[in-house]
Amino acid sequence: MSVKNLINSDKIPQHVAIIMDGNGRWAKTKGNNRIFGHQNGVNAVRDTVEAASEIGVKYLTLYAFSTENWNRPKLEINALMQLLMKAIREETPRLIKNNVRILSIGDLDSLPSRVKSSLERAKADTAHCNGLSLVLALSYSGRWEIANAAKQIAKLVANNLLNADDIDEKTIGKYLNTSNMPDPELIIRTSGEYRISNFLLWQIAYSEFYFLSKFWPDFAKEDFFEAIYNYQQRERRFGKISEQVNQIDK
Ligand code: IPE
Ligand code: IPE
Ligand code: MG
Repeated sequence: MSVKNLINSDKIPQHVAIIMDGNGRWAKTKGNNRIFGHQNGVNAVRDTVEAASEIGVKYLTLYAFSTENWNRPKLEINALMQLLMKAIREETPRLIKNNVRILSIGDLDSLPSRVKSSLERAKADTAHCNGLSLVLALSYSGRWEIANAAKQIAKLVANNLLNADDIDEKTIGKYLNTSNMPDPELIIRTSGEYRISNFLLWQIAYSEFYFLSKFWPDFAKEDFFEAIYNYQQRERRFGKISEQVNQIDK
């Protein structure tokens, strides 16, 4: 029996974010090069998008390329960019068919122009889709995003369009790339690493974490459902005590 049948449809997280890690190590176990791992990672992305759609998740954010990933060998960066472009182009018709809208977060201007334009095209082509929103984190890092927000807010203050005393958490949130999205209730990381690697630093204030040792290319629908089911067994207290959380209107 699939664990999918155990999932409570009234408690589906609105936003799940995934650190897709372990492509290189997966390939190594197969005696192959790192690029082979990235290529196979695309299959796991396809399955995960489908799984998230099936249970009614509204936002699925995938960490595909971090700011720090620019420090990898040139050859790997080029291959990743090429693969990204190919995947976006090839997968868009299926995404449209499945009513999936593509969004992105990150410093898109730092991407090669060909990658940026295929992403822009895919976003435009899926803009009418109102099922799952698939958010690609590209050239993204949490610190970059927060610094970027600070810069925009500082400009407003300098131009007397905003009073510094009025800056609160909502103001910061409004100038992040994720301004129109709910914070992720659940963060998943594959490959047995227990770190956040500069992902969604502001937004994960109260996220639940789910780590698994599988490498990303082996991540299957059932793993996704397992993570959701596991999340549903937790009590999220947001600083309160258990009794408060379990009482209505307290
Ligand atoms: C994740 O797999 C994909 C990206 C970061 C682009 P890795 O490439 O980090 O694979 P490992 O972690 O080295 O095995
Ligand atoms: C995190 O994976 C970034 C992505 C999944 C895109 P990394 O493999 O780059 O993370 P670190 O550097 O090992 O923490
Ligand atoms: Mg890695």
